[in-house]
Amino acid sequence: MSVDRPRPLVAGNWKMNGLKASAEVLDQIKAGYDDALKGRVDLAICPPATLVAAFAEKTAGSGIGIGGQDCHAKESGAYTGNIAAKMLKDGGAAYVIVGHSERRQYERETDADVRAKAEAAHRTGLIAIVCVGETKDEREAGRTLDVVRGQLKGSVPEGSNGGNLVVAYEPVWAIGTGLTPTAADVAEVHKVIRENLAGIVGPAEQAKVRILYGGSVKPSNAAELMGVADVDGALVGGASLVASDFLGIASAYRA
Ligand code: PGA
Repeated sequence: MSVDRPRPLVAGNWKMNGLKASAEVLDQIKAGYDDALKGRVDLAICPPATLVAAFAEKTAGSGIGIGGQDCHAKESGAYTGNIAAKMLKDGGAAYVIVGHSERRQYERETDADVRAKAEAAHRTGLIAIVCVGETKDEREAGRTLDVVRGQLKGSVPEGSNGGNLVVAYEPVWAIGTGLTPTAADVAEVHKVIRENLAGIVGPAEQAKVRILYGGSVKPSNAAELMGVADVDGALVGGASLVASDFLGIASAYRA
């Protein structure tokens, strides 16, 4: 990694997992981070919304950022069950994941929805982690690069820059399955994302945007995946629920 690369980011997506007692896992992550990783890699934890405020309080000033897993595009209103970006920010969040494939799939979110959510995140001062990635069928049909290009174009808002945007490439078929693309496949997609970002955020900013790989990242494959060109970190689901696994992944960046 050259000196002008942004600091890597390893973000944990807890999905619909975590109760108050899970603060213990956060404490373990924080302790391991302070001991060996602080200053080398940024960490983020995206717990369920119920835990955002408590986790943000615990990690204040630690270098670990807390994030939401989704936000609504509007600031407030009659949208029962939804959470505004401003509420996450108010709870102490620094990040919000938008356009995760589970939301694209189960909540029928479109690129336009994802873009509106990312805009809401930016308006309120949150870093949007915008997820893109192809399904198994799309990969088998040779459409991976087209799908990713289309999602990027449709989901990344104007005004995005290295400070407020993170892109996560998560092949849908790799999420929670234990399957991962080859290093060469990851390199190919990340290169295309980087090239396309130049046209979206501008040639100077594209180098500052962190592009994460996500999908079955584990301590055993982290070094290989994190060593791929244009991979600036990881978005980690299952393995982020176990402190030693999450720290093991983040350690792939230990100098
Ligand atoms: P996984 O999930 O690490 O459990 O595959 C990744 C994600 O969905 O962000």
